Amino acid sequence: MTRKYKFGIVGCGVIAPHHAESILATNNGELTAVCDIIEERAVEFAKKYKVEQYYTDYKKMIDEADVDIVCVCTPSGTHGEISVYAANAKKHLVVEKPIEITKEKMDEIIEAVNRNQVKMNSVFQIRTQPALIETKKAIDQGTFGDIILADAYLKTYRSQAYYDSAGWRGTWELDGGGALMNQGIHGVDILLWLAGDVESVFARAGAQARDIEVEDTAVAMVKFKNGAFGVIEGTTSVYPGQPKIFEIHGKKGSVVIKEEAIEVWKVEGNEEEKAPEVKIQRDDTANDPTKFSKVSHQVLMEDIMDAIENDRSTLIPPEEGRKSVDLILAIYESAKIGKEVRL
Ligand SMILES: NC(=O)c1ccc[n+]([C@@H]2O[C@H](COP(=O)([O-])OP(=O)(O)OC[C@H]3O[C@@H](n4cnc5c(N)ncnc54)[C@H](O)[C@@H]3O)[C@@H](O)[C@H]2O)c1
Repeated sequence: MTRKYKFGIVGCGVIAPHHAESILATNNGELTAVCDIIEERAVEFAKKYKVEQYYTDYKKMIDEADVDIVCVCTPSGTHGEISVYAANAKKHLVVEKPIEITKEKMDEIIEAVNRNQVKMNSVFQIRTQPALIETKKAIDQGTFGDIILADAYLKTYRSQAYYDSAGWRGTWELDGGGALMNQGIHGVDILLWLAGDVESVFARAGAQARDIEVEDTAVAMVKFKNGAFGVIEGTTSVYPGQPKIFEIHGKKGSVVIKEEAIEVWKVEGNEEEKAPEVKIQRDDTANDPTKFSKVSHQVLMEDIMDAIENDRSTLIPPEEGRKSVDLILAIYESAKIGKEVRL
């Protein structure tokens, strides 16, 4: 890379240290500004990562600070306004999942990113895990044949105290949903990435165990555009949280991924076909949202700098980032009206 890239982080809460530390771990990234509407948080965060400039107003940070790339780490329902403002100021973006919680806001982000010709990575860091990259490659090459069944089991544990720890958690207005829109969305994104786009969905969703507005448990039966069927189960209310499981079955064979490891990789009539050996990073986001390796965020930071440098698309542009949100919104709609919803 020919130059250094300056990053600014908006929102200094739970996920922000993953951004700061992964930026600092890159060769070309520098953290030059941070912002939080709670001043002490911005001050503390700036001190911890030795950043000179801190702000309490993201517009001021974007207008005044010397930054090339803005990391949006605020509550989900605020990502749109911040991302659009930053894109209009010609800043590149790394936006936490979900990129937004409504179709209108996602449309606005995509329009602003494209009109201003800036780059954006949507933070679905699980896509960078070696087991999933190899699985995606094999599925696309037809190793397992045409997909007939593709399932995601996304069972996590979040206590009532977790939901009470920040006012926006578990609200329609700022979280945009619960077990699926916040935690399960990573797995929904992976299922779509591996098995393709969805045609229609029939779902149930509700708060079974927690005192929250949004769902803590959801089940959905999906039909993919390629004709495959599938099931998505998402919850934040099972103790203990379980490893994420993806089960993809094609006409020729199956692949099963449990958290970050390949459990099954079989092709009928071809005993030579072996699962690729991959490096495994042990995560436990099933029980704690911060328990995952920072390496995957770092891959997305390196990627956006390289995308700017070489004027290419990022690994997860906003058009990709929105797909899981569109599906989850359809799941909520189906659960509400009690009917199948087409996407
Ligand atoms: N990639 C992942 O695995 C992962 C994990 C956790 C959270 N997240 C996502 O990160 C985002 C933040 O989640 P969190 O758990 O860190 O939340 P948090 O509540 O811990 O932190 C959010 C911070 O943003 C600040 N803030 C709110 N509005 C602001 C504004 N307009 N300008 C500046 N600061 C503002 C708050 O004061 C708070 O400090 C969410 O979208 C969440 O879905 C992603």
